Amino acid sequence: MGTARVVFDRWDGRYAERLGSVRSSAVRDLFAAASRSDMISFAGGMPEVRQVPTEAVAEAARDAILHEGAAALQYGSSDGRPQLRTIIVELMAEIGVRLGADELVVTAGAQQGLDLLAKTFLDPGDVIITEGPTYVGALQAFSAYQPQVICIPMDDDGMRVDLLADELARLGPRGAKFIYTIPNFQNPGGVTLTPERRRRLLELAREYDIPVIEDDPYGRLRFEGGHVKPLRALDDEVIYLGTFSKIFAPGLRLGWMTAPRPILAKVLLTKQAADLCGSAFAQVTAERYFTGTRWRKVLQGLTRTYAERRDVMLEALDEHFPPEARWTRPEGGFFVWVELPEFLDANAMLAEAVENGVTFVPGDGFFPDERGCNCMRLAFCYASPDDIREGVARLASVLEDRLELYRAFIAAGAISGGLREEGAA
Ligand SMILES: Cc1ncc(COP(=O)(O)O)c(C=O)c1O
Repeated sequence: MGTARVVFDRWDGRYAERLGSVRSSAVRDLFAAASRSDMISFAGGMPEVRQVPTEAVAEAARDAILHEGAAALQYGSSDGRPQLRTIIVELMAEIGVRLGADELVVTAGAQQGLDLLAKTFLDPGDVIITEGPTYVGALQAFSAYQPQVICIPMDDDGMRVDLLADELARLGPRGAKFIYTIPNFQNPGGVTLTPERRRRLLELAREYDIPVIEDDPYGRLRFEGGHVKPLRALDDEVIYLGTFSKIFAPGLRLGWMTAPRPILAKVLLTKQAADLCGSAFAQVTAERYFTGTRWRKVLQGLTRTYAERRDVMLEALDEHFPPEARWTRPEGGFFVWVELPEFLDANAMLAEAVENGVTFVPGDGFFPDERGCNCMRLAFCYASPDDIREGVARLASVLEDRLELYRAFIAAGAISGGLREEGAA
């Protein structure tokens, strides 16, 4: 990006070896560029918090302090406040999952859940299985514990469970520490795992005795099509990560993890070391916000907003993007995944895109290795419809420049299709 400064670090050589395998998140790195006032950002998956009624949150926070100050300002239990856990049990029942309040812990967002699970399960060299591409924050959380990550490709129906079966057969029983999946409106792929594939994935996990982690931040943001039951509704051994970030606000840093009780006991040990307990103030505030029905209307409004933006982005892509590109058509969530011809490098295009006032996340950040260079993730959740139209047009012109050059090379017989762009980062 050209914005990162190289700083001499006199502590180099003292850091834990495991940090060497943790890459900075491209999404986080783009934050500075994205905050320029003329910039149209398709980079961060930022919820549209401007639609969250601040007066209702202010009232909840005020009441939390005025009426439950002694609890809200105090340390709390490591697994979370019982009142909030009861609300979570009800939220889970609405999506078809029955569980007791003692089968979950409140976390500082789903992200903390990922970190705690990695800490609980992983030793250096352990094999784990994810979709490819997968959530960059999960790769970050996992890579600190030095696993070997095997990525299973996806198509429009989510993870290719036939390829998962091949991989598991190669690894053998207990050959991986866990399988990590984002079945709904996958980040970054935008695709949803079909019910048949969900059942097959669970069968395979049982057959090979491998825990499944289901990460589901976007499940309630469906624009069309019927609800698909979570994996956890089909198998009570699935570890499920939920979050208030997308149905309320990420600023509270509240999420939850459900897991079989023995696993939860281990996770709680790691959580105590991490934070003693989550923010009681945030929990009481959320309890008050989720008491009553207003939040449902707010969530419906948010979902309508995201659906409209998805429509606008898909229309703009159809109109402006070159025939060589293909992209997913998500039924919910925040993201469209674009695949460009293999020879194009999205990283090499990013600086030019930023100069043109538009950002996106290059695809290679969503893989543990060099794959995905010819891909980009476009978040439609935050920009206004007008900005989405304009941003896609700007991006298309950057793409067109690259493609023209390439087409000229092909016409001259200098290169053949499938080559990666020369000099790409
Ligand atoms: C797939 C996935 N998992 C986890 C998270 C982290 O969410 P939270 O804000 O709950 O920590 C995100 C955030 O974007 C995400 O996309």
